[in-house]
Amino acid sequence: MLLAALAGCGDEAAATSEHEPDADAPVTEPTWHRDIAPIVVARCGACHREGGLAPLPLRSYEDAAPWAALMLEAVERGQMPPFAADATETCAPRRPWRDDPRLEPTELELLRAWVEDGAPEGDPGDAAPLPPAPELALTDPDLHLAPPASVTVDGDRDQFLCFVLDPQLTEDRYLRATQLVPGNERVVHHALVFADPEARYGALAGEDGWFECDPGGLYGDALIAAWAPGGLPHRTPEGTATRLRAGTQLVLSVHYHPTGAPELDPGTALELEWYDGEPEQLSELALLGNFTDERLLPGPSDPGIPEFWIPAGAARHSELMAIPLPPELPELRVWMVGAHMHYLGVNAQVALIRPDAEDPRDQQECLLSAPRYQFEWQRTYAYDAPTDALPIARGGDTLLIRCEYDNSLDNPALAEVLAERGLDAPVDVELGDGTLDEMCLGVFGVIYPRALADEGWRP
Ligand code: HEC
Repeated sequence: MLLAALAGCGDEAAATSEHEPDADAPVTEPTWHRDIAPIVVARCGACHREGGLAPLPLRSYEDAAPWAALMLEAVERGQMPPFAADATETCAPRRPWRDDPRLEPTELELLRAWVEDGAPEGDPGDAAPLPPAPELALTDPDLHLAPPASVTVDGDRDQFLCFVLDPQLTEDRYLRATQLVPGNERVVHHALVFADPEARYGALAGEDGWFECDPGGLYGDALIAAWAPGGLPHRTPEGTATRLRAGTQLVLSVHYHPTGAPELDPGTALELEWYDGEPEQLSELALLGNFTDERLLPGPSDPGIPEFWIPAGAARHSELMAIPLPPELPELRVWMVGAHMHYLGVNAQVALIRPDAEDPRDQQECLLSAPRYQFEWQRTYAYDAPTDALPIARGGDTLLIRCEYDNSLDNPALAEVLAERGLDAPVDVELGDGTLDEMCLGVFGVIYPRALADEGWRP
């Protein structure tokens, strides 16, 4: 039944590609106005517009034409639009991704033909209607929460601060979307938000609303929002939401990375959108990985016993973790997957092993393959599928996370962060919380029946 549902969902995704030009039309002499502008607006316009994330607007012909060759090159190399996920020979997820900005093959063909033809403008008179540029951010949140005061971090070490935010809930409310807005992207390395239903941490926060927190610390009982560079808002699947109990406070845990000089964070904010009514399924985030114990499997450079150890200069080093899910875990559905590594990270794969699955095809399922992982583009990936066709995880299954690192100077992200520390050569790297340490973490969005939670069950 699951397979049937999956097959259906694949077909649907193929049929809903809005911007696909007529497949029968010959690709001859495409022009900006007639053929290219709609593709560029749909695929690039979320960031490449006035006031967008990207430095160069690509909205008009005058904007785009000087960049034509570079645009094609960035797309062909898989650098733009930034999207780390891609199917590989060893790991191919079965469902399409929500908000996938990658060009369809026919769109790429048009772009290539246009560039090779000298990027002609064409006739504004036969301009194709432009689609609206996708909006990645939550632009009209119901609630904006920020610490009461700015903070200045020292800039000479990694710092971890926890801010206590109070949504002032007098009754249970449900969230359908969360967005973290870093106050200063130069120093915010990641941010996590935990729900603290018993409001236990408020007393620790001083007048400025924060306390020094434990780097790996988990506060409260559920992770409800997460951000790392390149992160996007999280929108739970249709008909699902995250529950916040009346009286819940939120603990925003921020890792600040040192830049060598003191830096001001005027206020990293959390924005929320409410869900109307009571959903049948609840959603939560989970972080799994970062193990140095028996869950770490032997790797190529291990001295006999498995060790999380990335030697200086190693260009293709991988670590593999196998995480058995506790036998009592009921059936969960996975709606979102991401990976988190630091500057050495270049590739990640996440798979689920279901030894008891009847269909051999389900005994191993790739959940995410991210062969273009980059520290600065750490969005997470949500499946474009109805909730009853999402991958199932249950007790007895094993999660596999494979992380690949480049600890050589060919890795531009590493070269940059070493220079910031006054270093000119790679160093041996271990597992840890600091900027120059490494991590191998899977980020998951899961849903489960509200009835289970009402009976007191916690994931
Ligand atoms: C999610 C946001 C986002 C989207 C979508 C996006 N870009 Fe970019 N782009 C950026 C940012 C940010 C930069 C600045 C450089 C960087 O950080 O990589 C950039 C840089 C570029 C550059 C300059 C690259 C260089 O080598 O200097 C080109 C060309 C480009 N983008 C083309 C595109 C095209 C074409 C698309 C659509 C097919 C696209 N981008 C989609 C965010 C985006």
